[in-house]
Amino acid sequence: MPPLNERFQESRVVSADEVRGAFPALERQHEGFPVAYFDGPGGTQVPRTVVEAMANYLFQHNANTHWAFPTSAETDAALHGARRVLADFVNASPDEIVFGANMTSLTFRVSRALGRRLGPSDAIVVTELDHHANIDPWRALARDRGITIRQSRMIPETGQLDWDDLDRCLSQHGTKLLAIGAASNAVGTINDVARAVAMAHEAEALAFVDAVHFAPHQLVDVQAWDCDFVVCSAYKFHGPHVGVLYGKRALLRSLEVTKLRPAPDTAPERLEAGTQNHEGIVGAAAAVEFLAGLVKEEQECVDPNELDAWIMTRRQRLATVFQALHTRGCALLERLWEGCGCIPGVRLFGPPPGAPRTPTIALVVANVPATEVAIRLARRGIFASHGDFYAQTVAERLGQARDGLLRLGCACYTTENEVDRVVESLRAIAQGHE
Ligand SMILES: Cc1ncc(COP(=O)(O)O)c(C=O)c1O
Repeated sequence: MPPLNERFQESRVVSADEVRGAFPALERQHEGFPVAYFDGPGGTQVPRTVVEAMANYLFQHNANTHWAFPTSAETDAALHGARRVLADFVNASPDEIVFGANMTSLTFRVSRALGRRLGPSDAIVVTELDHHANIDPWRALARDRGITIRQSRMIPETGQLDWDDLDRCLSQHGTKLLAIGAASNAVGTINDVARAVAMAHEAEALAFVDAVHFAPHQLVDVQAWDCDFVVCSAYKFHGPHVGVLYGKRALLRSLEVTKLRPAPDTAPERLEAGTQNHEGIVGAAAAVEFLAGLVKEEQECVDPNELDAWIMTRRQRLATVFQALHTRGCALLERLWEGCGCIPGVRLFGPPPGAPRTPTIALVVANVPATEVAIRLARRGIFASHGDFYAQTVAERLGQARDGLLRLGCACYTTENEVDRVVESLRAIAQGHE
């Protein structure tokens, strides 16, 4: 019998075609074309199982928490279960998982709590490559508390962080926190988070990581990163509109959060203000289960006496799935990048294939504003987002603040055929044939 890790390699992850069957939205037609969703970085489509889990909660178990009747107890159990699932998703413990409305609200909440410890001699480092949800809450705090903000530069030519500048920003006096993105939602760059966290800790600062764009593409590992906080949003990985925060246990227990006196003061609930979005939390867990369920186990090879040794944990299944999705994403990205890159008048931004990145690209078409490109693509059934995606500083640094960028993001349901359709359509738009 082969060792366990070989068994994982033998495991198969379902094909893109099989994945597609799970998403009712993919049946949609627009102007006679099957819809190709390239708007995943703005929000991914949702599989049937996630919607069913949410409907089942609302139909069968709907109640408020902590009471002595069955639906309330079932709600407590559902929320606890969801914390366990999301803990596996980021490699943490259930009591380190906090739910909230979205990443932005959670970041404001944590920043306000952390800010109570900070004052005019302190500094926070943010980066130019980040979504403003990981910049502006810290800037607002700085205004209120007299804290200094240092913004570490990006390199416009490569769409990557300037690591020397990050080092310079962190090593100056009084740095108390680094706010950094794991991946850029505008140009797809993946940052070496473990390295950035180590640099922050070296400077005796905390590290707050925005993994919203990273989480659909690579498996978050808070232990490998050793970060103090991570935030992500389930609607970017096939779940509903719910935010998820990981925080190191000691921090979640000690943060000076604003809370109602009768509300629980134990972590993680003390971070969750008011009644939560129970059905959304159930849906977030179902999204993780959906991803973990993309592994096809080869049951027939399993000796029933050794079944326990063969059963993959949820985390192991997620690792297998994400490895396969990463390989597929790289192939799609390369096809997209090569295809778009050779269209005269199309300019691509961000790191090329091969560099650490997600399958999300940003581009402009000469003489056609990004809004217009998006409108024309939609006429061909291709849904893509445009603008600055709240990565406003990135758009500015790329010189695209006025006209914006067009963003194409591949997701687990994207096919080569869809990539070819988008390339063909962009060629027609660039050549003025649309
Ligand atoms: C990288 C990144 N960070 C943060 C956010 C904000 O997330 P939310 O909408 O959950 O507040 C987004 C949303 O697009 C994002 O892409």
